[in-house]
Order: sequence, then structure tokens, then C-alpha cells
Amino acid sequence: MNFYLEPGGKLVGRIRVPGDKSMSHRVIMLGSIAEGTTHVTGFLEGEDALATLGAFRDMGVAISDPESGRLTIEGVGLDGLQAPQEIMDVGNSGTSIRLMAGLLAGQAFSSVLTGDQSLLRRPMARVITPLSQMGALMSSREGFPPLEIAGGRKLQGIDYELPVASAQVKSSILLAGLFAAGCTSVLEPAPTRDHTERMLRGFGYSVQVDSGAVSLEGGGTLRGTMVDIPADISSAAFFMVGASIAEGSDLVLEHVGINPTRDGVIRILKAMGADITMSNERDVGGEPVADLRIRSAALQGIEIPVEEVPLAIDELPAILVAAACADGTTVLRGAEELRVKESDRIASMAEGLTELGIHNAVHADGITVTGGDLRGGVIATHDDHRIAMSFAMAALCASDPIKISDCAHVATSFPGFASLAKQVGLRLEVAET
Ligand code: S3P
Repeated sequence: MNFYLEPGGKLVGRIRVPGDKSMSHRVIMLGSIAEGTTHVTGFLEGEDALATLGAFRDMGVAISDPESGRLTIEGVGLDGLQAPQEIMDVGNSGTSIRLMAGLLAGQAFSSVLTGDQSLLRRPMARVITPLSQMGALMSSREGFPPLEIAGGRKLQGIDYELPVASAQVKSSILLAGLFAAGCTSVLEPAPTRDHTERMLRGFGYSVQVDSGAVSLEGGGTLRGTMVDIPADISSAAFFMVGASIAEGSDLVLEHVGINPTRDGVIRILKAMGADITMSNERDVGGEPVADLRIRSAALQGIEIPVEEVPLAIDELPAILVAAACADGTTVLRGAEELRVKESDRIASMAEGLTELGIHNAVHADGITVTGGDLRGGVIATHDDHRIAMSFAMAALCASDPIKISDCAHVATSFPGFASLAKQVGLRLEVAET
């Protein structure tokens, strides 16, 4: 599937982007191992979260078909999961495979997790190492999926210092810790998204956070609950950038999750001069939420603060499009993790920006982008949803049409992106290849 974009236009209106992907994965996992029923609203019906849903159904959990983001999970309790009949294929989803590796490490049954071509290239040693220290037995294809996880292992809690700031690795260890004897503690080199910690508490599970270390005791009980998932700030980010760079834009994004471990994109865009205001700030089930109004503004290049990188990790491709439309130079460093996402996002962005005539210099851990006049061109997404949606927004500032090839993966995180974007003014047509 390709996107064809006519240049120009502006983004005007009021929309709600789909539910948060990170929270949608976690609610399926925690709801499944809770006692009693969990009622969910705002669930993301994207391919990644549906892959997690399918895997837990394979392990005997009754989960209703999502309908307009609503579903129910009949929790089976900490020891109630059943052996899946087959290999569990989680498609494109790094969050599914890494978090589930932790959750499955302490089960009585063995399991195998695999995924698509992109997932087979994502590094797994980062979870295999700490989980093995806890007593798990797993084999991989030299550190890459498929992962074979042996059943019947007795896990022991550990104190683990994360070598990389990764919420997936932190969460994987904490989920294993639920099934481990004693205390499991994870020390982060820098804060990362804390949805696992918040949601565990929402399920009545005690989690301590002290000087960057997150700890829990194994063997407790999660209780079924109600979870309202806010709109995904990572999906909202494309529209924040689009409305900022397209003259005459005035866009409201409703009910966006603004958790302080996720909102780096707002601070970075504001530092570039973006006009973003928040209203209706409220707490929804332990997660902060607000409506965001974005009006177009003249942007300037900045040095992106390194401490913001983990807090904006999935939004950096979109931010680099803002950088391309800004006056002056934007420097991104300390972002080597971008190289092991759904694609090598530093290389994918550099290639696309160069195609559109934007001068850039690639570093091992980032990229420097000099703002300028965007021309049209043909963009390769490398099957990466966020590369596709970022460059779709670039068309708002381009002089000529942009074709974006291979956009099918947009459905992993943002089903309905094309129609929602068109509704507010993006000049986008979709064509099957
Ligand atoms: C996620 C954590 C991040 C992020 C991913 C979702 C999560 O990955 O990029 O899209 O839900 O925990 P890392 O932990 O690998 O940085």
C-alpha cells in the first residue's frame, strides 16, 4: 500500500487519535493474569495490540472482541494461563515479544514467540540476559527471535541495573518478577515510560519506586479493574508536527495521554517555537490526560536535550520532519536506540530527508538536520509505520508531491490514520500496490 500526497494544505479541526499502544499491550497482559474481570475502554485495535490479545487467547484467556475500543478480559489469575497449542506469532511487535518473554519465563509450560521479518531482526539479548539471571531458560537465534522459553523454571528476584534506558526491558523483568521468589528491582539509567508500574498499581499490586529503582515482590494478586486508555501521544505527535509546520493550522487533539515519561515531544516542539496549549487536564485511572491545541508557528532548530530522548523515543522521526521545516539546525544525539526500532530510524530518516532535498549529517547516535525548502520525492518506509506517518506530514511543507511506498505497517499502531489525516486537511490518497 502506498501513500500519495499533494503538497501544501493545513490541519484544522478536532480529532481523537486511537488508544495508547503501550497501555493496550499492558492491559491485556495484566488483565489476563488478574483475578476477575477487567473492563477496558479506549483499546487500540491496531495489529500490534491485537497480536498480544491473540497470544493471550491462545493461552486460554477469554477476551471479548474489541468493539470501538471496548473489551472485557476474564482474568485467570497469576497461575491460570494454559500452554498455547502453537508457536505464538506477535507480528511486528517488539513490546509483545519482550514483555511476554518476561511473563512467560516463570510459567509451568514451555512456549515459543516469533514475529515478522522486522521483528526477527530486533535484539533480544537485552531481555534474555536479565531473565536468565532470574533463572529462566531461553534460547534464541543468536540473540534474535524466535525465542523458546522453557517451562517449569523457578525464578528468583534480582537487582538489575539496566544498561540501556528501555521500558520494554524494565517491564519484562518486572513481569517476570511477579512470578519470582522475593523482590525484583530494576534500576534505570534514565526515566522511561512507567505505564507498567502505574497499571500494576491500578490492578492493586504494590510497586515501589525509589531513586530510579522500581521494585516489587513476587507472588501477589492482581485484581480485575476498569481501565480507560487515553489517546496515544505517539500517534498524536504526527499531527502536532503537521499542525506546527503547516501555515494556518489550528488543530485540537482530544484526550491525549501526557504521562511525564512520554511527553518529551511537547517540550521539544515548544523549545523549537511550537504553539501548543493544553486544556482540560485530568487524571484518568492513574494516567494524566489533556486536550492539546496546536497552531502553526515558525520553528527554529535546537539541540535536542539528551535527557528528553527516552521521553520522546518514538516521536523522534516526526520531530526530525519538524526540524526539516525549521529555521537553522537541529542536533539529535544520544539516540542510538533508534537504530534498533522497527527500522534503523536514523538511516531511514536520513534517506528520506535527503530525497526531499534536506541537508543532514548522520552520527552513530543521532543526526543533524538543517532546515530548508522541501521538494517532492519518493520515500521508502523500510516497512516502518512511524517513518511513513512522519513523511506524510512533510508534504504539508513540500513544493511537489510525495509518494510514500509500503505503508501497510501503519496499521500496526494507527489504524485509520489516512482517513483521520484527510479529515483534518492532509492531501493524502491511498493506493493498493
Ligand atoms: C515501549 C517502549 C519503547 C518504545 C516502544 C514501546 C513500551 O521501546 O520504543 O514503541 O511499550 O514499553 P524500548 O523500551 O525498546 O525503548
